[in-house]
Amino acid sequence: MILSFPVLLALGLCLVPVQSKPAGILFCTDIFLKHFYFLNPILSYDSLGSSLVQECFEEAKKLVDDAYKYSREESLRRVRRQMVRPHDALRLMKQPRADTRTAVRSADYMAQTLRLLHDRVHRVHKRSLNATDLLSAEDLMSLAEITGCLGRVRLPNCRTTPNLNRYRTATSVCNNLNNPRLGASNTAFTRWLPAQYDDGISQPKGFLNRTFNGFFLPLVRQVSNNILATTDAGVVNDTEFTHLVTLFGQWNDHDLTFTPFSPSIKSFANGINCDESCENTEPCIPIAIPPNDPRLPTGPESCIPAFRSAPACGTGYSAYNFGGDPNNREQINALTSFLDLGQVYGSEEKLALDLRDLTNDRGLLRANTEFRDNGRDLLPFSSMETNMCATRQRVTNDTNAREVPCFIAGDVRVDENIALTSIHTLFFREHNRLARALKRINPQWDSETLYQEARKIQGAYTQMFVFRDYLPHIVGDDVMRKQLGRYPGYNPSVDPSVSNVFATAAYRFAHLAIQPKLARLDENYRENRQFPSVPLFKAFFAPWRVVFEGGIDPLIRGLVGRPAKLNTQDHMMVDALRERLFEFVQHLALDLGSLNMIRGRDHGLPGYNDWRRFCGLSQPSNQAELAQVLNNTDLARRLLELYGTPANIDVWLGGVAEPFVRGGRVGPLFACLIATQFQRIRQGDRLWWENPGVFTPQQRAALSKVTISRIICDNTGIRAVPRDAFNIASRGNRLTNCSNIRSLNLSAWREPRPCSNNSDTENRSRWIQEPKPRFVDPVWCQVTLIYAVFLGKIIS
Ligand SMILES: *[C@@H]1O[C@H](CO)[C@@H](O)[C@H](O)[C@H]1NC(C)=O
Ligand SMILES: *[C@@H]1O[C@H](CO)[C@@H](O)[C@H](O)[C@H]1NC(C)=O
Ligand SMILES: *[C@@H]1O[C@H](CO)[C@@H](O)[C@H](O)[C@H]1NC(C)=O
Ligand SMILES: *[C@@H]1O[C@H](CO)[C@@H](O)[C@H](O)[C@H]1NC(C)=O
Ligand SMILES: *[C@@H]1O[C@H](CO)[C@@H](O)[C@H](O)[C@H]1NC(C)=O
Ligand SMILES: *[C@@H]1O[C@H](CO)[C@@H](O)[C@H](O)[C@H]1NC(C)=O
Ligand SMILES: *[C@@H]1O[C@H](CO)[C@@H](O)[C@H](O)[C@H]1NC(C)=O
Ligand SMILES: *[C@@H]1O[C@H](CO)[C@@H](O)[C@H](O)[C@H]1NC(C)=O
Ligand SMILES: *[C@@H]1O[C@H](CO)[C@@H](O)[C@H](O)[C@H]1NC(C)=O
Repeated sequence: MILSFPVLLALGLCLVPVQSKPAGILFCTDIFLKHFYFLNPILSYDSLGSSLVQECFEEAKKLVDDAYKYSREESLRRVRRQMVRPHDALRLMKQPRADTRTAVRSADYMAQTLRLLHDRVHRVHKRSLNATDLLSAEDLMSLAEITGCLGRVRLPNCRTTPNLNRYRTATSVCNNLNNPRLGASNTAFTRWLPAQYDDGISQPKGFLNRTFNGFFLPLVRQVSNNILATTDAGVVNDTEFTHLVTLFGQWNDHDLTFTPFSPSIKSFANGINCDESCENTEPCIPIAIPPNDPRLPTGPESCIPAFRSAPACGTGYSAYNFGGDPNNREQINALTSFLDLGQVYGSEEKLALDLRDLTNDRGLLRANTEFRDNGRDLLPFSSMETNMCATRQRVTNDTNAREVPCFIAGDVRVDENIALTSIHTLFFREHNRLARALKRINPQWDSETLYQEARKIQGAYTQMFVFRDYLPHIVGDDVMRKQLGRYPGYNPSVDPSVSNVFATAAYRFAHLAIQPKLARLDENYRENRQFPSVPLFKAFFAPWRVVFEGGIDPLIRGLVGRPAKLNTQDHMMVDALRERLFEFVQHLALDLGSLNMIRGRDHGLPGYNDWRRFCGLSQPSNQAELAQVLNNTDLARRLLELYGTPANIDVWLGGVAEPFVRGGRVGPLFACLIATQFQRIRQGDRLWWENPGVFTPQQRAALSKVTISRIICDNTGIRAVPRDAFNIASRGNRLTNCSNIRSLNLSAWREPRPCSNNSDTENRSRWIQEPKPRFVDPVWCQVTLIYAVFLGKIIS
């Protein structure tokens, strides 16, 4: 070991403050650099040399590129031959694209180069040496550069970003001026509790078959079978909330979180194909099937193929090698952490531009050029050569049926189910409606201004709908009051980043509120005769149902006119998700319950009790105490039969098993985790709609009156809606003629027309008071950058 103890200590000490206390960073970095400078000669003394690093990098690059290429070709082949299996569908949907793919690729280059270096050193020295202990600082830096990892942490220059105080960037880079990547897309999820990997660094929980708290973890599929199963007949309807509440949850999740999978379907280390083996080998994380499974074939050779989430650059083993300081594998969030309607606009510049209609100066989003929905726009089609959405012939058993491509939108999961597709279509239309209306009142505005102003209004909508309308129904009034009450103002030291536990566990609660059928209703909110309700398992990747089966109106009516499923402890997850997920034909369908739990283990999430402690809740230690927490003796018994101890319960499962808080639809644990996340998203957003200076007081007043029902009225052929789209129509919430629902009054967006035409593009948004941006010192940025690279920790 060449790194001395004080250096490790300095590194350790620096690890925490780098994210939270900007003031602390300089201090820590100083120490770090001093030691580094001091160590540098020692490191280079016994250096491995640049040529070896270069050699290993070339080999690693070929390995990774070949695996990606093979995987891509294999996927294309399956799609063409219509051999897409359910796990292929999931994998293709969770493929990293564009800049996310670059991020994932860089991380793979880095990890594989270091793995190869490690092997070489081991071979030459005949003893185990840490390769990076022998790398010079220059070599490490150049490795970071050639893999692309350096680019992932390089801090952008916010000074050159136009309209920094008026509009969001697509990636949300520079939302936080002190720490420009905070909350930006393609950075790592944050952690509120340290990860618990099997080897302390990267291996999924349960991979090495070791015990936790004295017990082995049960097979996730066994847990799913014993705890989650319910039949469609057993579904209990929610008596208060509509199915829109459920789908709005999915919709909103797709604004905030997307965890890409590895693009490779075979192991880098040994070439094992994840589809053909049940071995645990990166990136394969097969789901074993328990004996006597009611649906799936059992035996050692039988498993559901699954893939690990891609690591972020310089985390996991590569971080371990980087500084000799054990660091955890972190996962990537491809989306921005802000409520900015990224699922409409895209979270990367290139996609955002691609979604726009740049053929004219009206600031519109691109619409479908082949089909319309009763005279209204549909989303544009994807030009991808793989058509995942060619499911019509298989589902209808009609080989002459015309297939259509997938729709595209700001989030790639737009086609996951047709109810979600309808919500996408709704807000896409609202953008174009707003852009046209703004153009009428401000004909002088150019395309960019129209686009950004309409986008900004939609961002405010989503923040309002989530806080005012949605969250109270989920976390209940008490938590709402305690954590999400009055807007406390912007605080640049609050980290808005989405946490791993929120994305991987808490915000997946709504999977238990999904109905087995998507209702399609006529003008009178009765079953649509021509195109009746669709079983959920026949609604995955089916844009053709929107195109050829009556458009979005019947589906939107189904969402606001029918109840959500109620998650009860006896009837948790419907078969469409547990037994028929992405089932198109014969192949093994996926189980969403198993997937959620394996994902939690893949990400090294701590167990149920650790999170209860984090939230200041009791930690049950035996069956009696668990029974009390769950208010259910039988469920507590069945859980402990599987887990042995409450501490080991997978946090997603423990969370959804809890009885609801008063007025909400999650238990105390998830109410806390969800509220904590949204508290940070709001307070850490410089462009939050209520932050003074973002909108004028007149604009805020106009915005605060908008409802989802109005958006439905303005963008569909639906003429009667419940006033409150989240509450089931009742005596106090009757179906109302759209003419009685208030429209957004845009007069506060009218800009005084300049008297002469030579003036005033500069003063375009005269109603916005621009706060002086505060910038960080570029020298300081560089220092932080070096620090971040050597810690192998993305500033996220
Ligand atoms: C490599 O580094 C790790 C972490 O610092 C340390 O535990 C291990 O002993 C090192 N191995 C060698 C051979 O120095
Ligand atoms: C894990 O180890 C235990 C005891 O060593 C053994 O009984 C069990 O079968 C193992 N499980 C798996 C999945 O290998
Ligand atoms: C629940 O609601 C669905 C959709 O409206 C309906 O088809 C079903 O019959 C209801 N189930 C019960 C038990 O009322
Ligand atoms: C599909 O159609 C073929 C031929 O018309 C028929 O033999 C087959 O049974 C049908 N399959 C289903 C699932 O309806
Ligand atoms: C606990 O369960 C009982 C019946 O099982 C029910 O009557 C009671 O309302 C529940 N209490 C709470 C707080 O949910
Ligand atoms: C809704 O109101 C408009 C205007 O007041 C009226 O023309 C229309 O007939 C009403 N529609 C229904 C379904 O009541
Ligand atoms: C819109 O708001 C303006 C003031 O901002 C007001 O004068 C006008 O009457 C409002 N229009 C409607 C239709 O409410
Ligand atoms: C604006 O000014 C230019 C020259 O300065 C003139 O050619 C043009 O006609 C003017 N446009 C309008 C709308 O007044
Ligand atoms: C633009 O704004 C500046 C500063 O607020 C002001 O001095 C100037 O007169 C404005 N120009 C026009 C044409 O309104």
